Amino acid sequence: MDAWMKKLGSSEEAFTLLSSVFANVSDAILVVDKEGMIVTANPALEKMSGWATEELIGKRHICELCLGMATCREEATCADCFFKQEQMPSFEMRLKTKDGRDYPVAASSAQLPEIDGGKMVLILRDMSDQQRAEKERYQHKLTNYVIQAQEEERKRISRELHDGVGQALYSILVGLNVVGQSKLSEPLRQHVADIQQMTAKAMEEVKRMALELRPSALDDLGLLPALRSLIKRFEKSFGLLIDLHVQGDRRRYPAVVETALYRIVQEAMTNAAKYAQADKLGIVFEDRDKELVVTVVDDGIGFDVERAQKKGTGLGLFGMKERAQLLGGTVDIRSAPGEGTTVIVRIPLAKEETEDGHSRPDRR
Ligand SMILES: Nc1ncnc2c1ncn2[C@@H]1O[C@H](COP(=O)(O)OP(=O)(O)OP(=O)(O)O)[C@@H](O)[C@H]1O
Ligand SMILES: [Mg+2]
Repeated sequence: MDAWMKKLGSSEEAFTLLSSVFANVSDAILVVDKEGMIVTANPALEKMSGWATEELIGKRHICELCLGMATCREEATCADCFFKQEQMPSFEMRLKTKDGRDYPVAASSAQLPEIDGGKMVLILRDMSDQQRAEKERYQHKLTNYVIQAQEEERKRISRELHDGVGQALYSILVGLNVVGQSKLSEPLRQHVADIQQMTAKAMEEVKRMALELRPSALDDLGLLPALRSLIKRFEKSFGLLIDLHVQGDRRRYPAVVETALYRIVQEAMTNAAKYAQADKLGIVFEDRDKELVVTVVDDGIGFDVERAQKKGTGLGLFGMKERAQLLGGTVDIRSAPGEGTTVIVRIPLAKEETEDGHSRPDRR
């Protein structure tokens, strides 16, 4: 530093340079006296704290701008305050703004004993963007984890239902067939026939539940066959006419992409069946090589999207967006009362997902 100052030549040059640094850096720099009163502050502190420089210099104590601090290891109390240390190269501080907000900053402090009886310089760096980004990253990670865990659990329960309860019911049915073929009195024969019917119904129910939890076609055959079978079930259950149009290659995609798209389309179809009072549903599935675009259109009563999202009573619309976002994609919902609803989902495909062995060409 000394060598650098010497290089600068005259003290006037050095002063101009340091003043310029002080005025233009984005970090807030403030100097406090021995009592803790602010004696100088740069414009960046005005921006961060909301206080004008005239309201700070000689008028505010450093404690009025501090809501607490923490070192990299732990929360600190006022007893460990940077003000009592000779220097603290790195700590976190919660800056209190003029309107009382809590503003996270990364700070460093050092005593300046050679200046006017000893003062302290404090440098504050805005961490709000980093903290927000970190919070979002954490939130995404957590959501991703919850979604994956939920899918795994659904897969497990679906298999248990299919292979466990489903198989057991099938064995009972076979046994009842044998009993039904033996010589029985009429009332007993009728009784066996009733039980056979109930067992067959229970088997159907278990099969439906297993399918709804997680269709094995999604893992075994892929997204398009699973969607076709979902469409068939919807047409049967809700009396809807559903048209599926596929453009581009038909192939397998990474499991996370297939699962996310299946769940998003399933939710869009469920919403249309529940609320739209629609007769027809159109689904367009486009493989655009670098991205997958799926559009679900209904000709129903439509709704105010912004209001529904603000109201936030359901999780469906939020979940669709969250699933797409986790894969770097988007969900665009276009609707208005009386105008039907269009849901457009875009999921990007990474290079290796479009070119390597992940994507087996799979003509169906
Ligand atoms: N296709 C549609 N047609 C008409 N209204 C719709 C349609 N899709 C959604 N809505 C409206 O938007 C609201 C929010 O939908 P969302 O899927 O988020 O929640 P939900 O279906 O009510 O609950 P959940 O999905 O959590 O079971 C619905 O209650 C409904 O009023
Ligand atoms: Mg819903």
